[in-house]
Amino acid sequence: MLILGIETSCDETAAAVVEDGTNVLSNVIATSQHAFEQSGGVIPEQAARKQVECIYPVLEQAFKDAHVSPKSIDAIAVTKGPGLLGSLLVGTTTARVLASVWKKPLIGVHHNFGHLSSIWLSKKLHHPFPILTLSVSGGHTELWYRIAQTKGKLLGSTRDDAAGEAFDKGAALLGLPYPGGPSIANAALGGNPHAFKFPLPLKGENNLDFSFSGLKTALKYLLYDLEKPMKKKKPRPPKIVSLDSLGPSALADIAASYQHALCRHLTNRIERALEQLPKTREMHIVGGVSANTALRAMLQQNIPPVAIRWPSAIVYCTDNAAMIAAAAYFLIEERGKKALEKFETSASLPLRLTP
Ligand code: KG4
Ligand code: ZN
Repeated sequence: MLILGIETSCDETAAAVVEDGTNVLSNVIATSQHAFEQSGGVIPEQAARKQVECIYPVLEQAFKDAHVSPKSIDAIAVTKGPGLLGSLLVGTTTARVLASVWKKPLIGVHHNFGHLSSIWLSKKLHHPFPILTLSVSGGHTELWYRIAQTKGKLLGSTRDDAAGEAFDKGAALLGLPYPGGPSIANAALGGNPHAFKFPLPLKGENNLDFSFSGLKTALKYLLYDLEKPMKKKKPRPPKIVSLDSLGPSALADIAASYQHALCRHLTNRIERALEQLPKTREMHIVGGVSANTALRAMLQQNIPPVAIRWPSAIVYCTDNAAMIAAAAYFLIEERGKKALEKFETSASLPLRLTP
């Protein structure tokens, strides 16, 4: 089955052609991320305007790279939410028009279900269920226990910021460009992850939730305390500080310690989940933050003997359309005609899997 996937939930315009949920024939992504490097985050209006310009050439390229024509595809899958409404509408409107003109079935896919499906891209591995999946990106942090592709339950989620948001906000405090994840990971190279102590969020709480806003605040005050000897009578909370005066390795040490604290919180909740769910056969991490090598290393060190998997390429960790096409394939496989039900485009949309 050949599915055309379309994803436009944030600052990217993406289209892909995927065969049977795993074989990626093309995966095209145009992003306006560079335009937001200095703003610390995406400006919705600006992102949507760029997507209107990009959607047609991106689709054309996806068919060209896949060496297929629109006639040969079996269905169109599009991200229905959550995300930025203007951006989502560019994708869903395009998909609705194409489905009508080409007379193809249309499937609305939840963005986070796309991330959950990204592990299967380009890998014909058989993954045994039950699977514990940590889905971590700029918009969400969720822990899922799945007994099939579309069946499972949500074990915990973030009470405040998402993990990627904590990287993005931390980077802004450190004067590093958006997106913060790669910026902090680069700045942390060669730094000492134990140079500065951060608290462990929700320590001792018997649940599987996450909380990142305290770590961001701890970083704010660390920067204030480091600057204080040089700038007297500076009121709390501080604004973004210049780290130049703190010596060449200070930024690397702070970035490494902050990154370590974020990874430690994620790892701690997973350890707790695995203790409670001893039947788990595999552990998956997906979403933009799963690209983080410090997180991958910490998980590998701390949670044997369960096999840990992440998407087979960095482009499948961050937002892409191949994961949307893969997700649609699994929805059709497990839910049949129900997968083709009419859908609304929605900026806020909780993911519901069959229990
Ligand atoms: O999945 P994604 O592309 O978009 C959303 O669904 O939000 O994730 C983007 C998030 C951003 O917050 C970005 O800072 C983070 O993923 N990210 C990373 C890395 N690459 C991207 N975080 C940590 N380390 C990375 N290498
Ligand atoms: Zn995403």
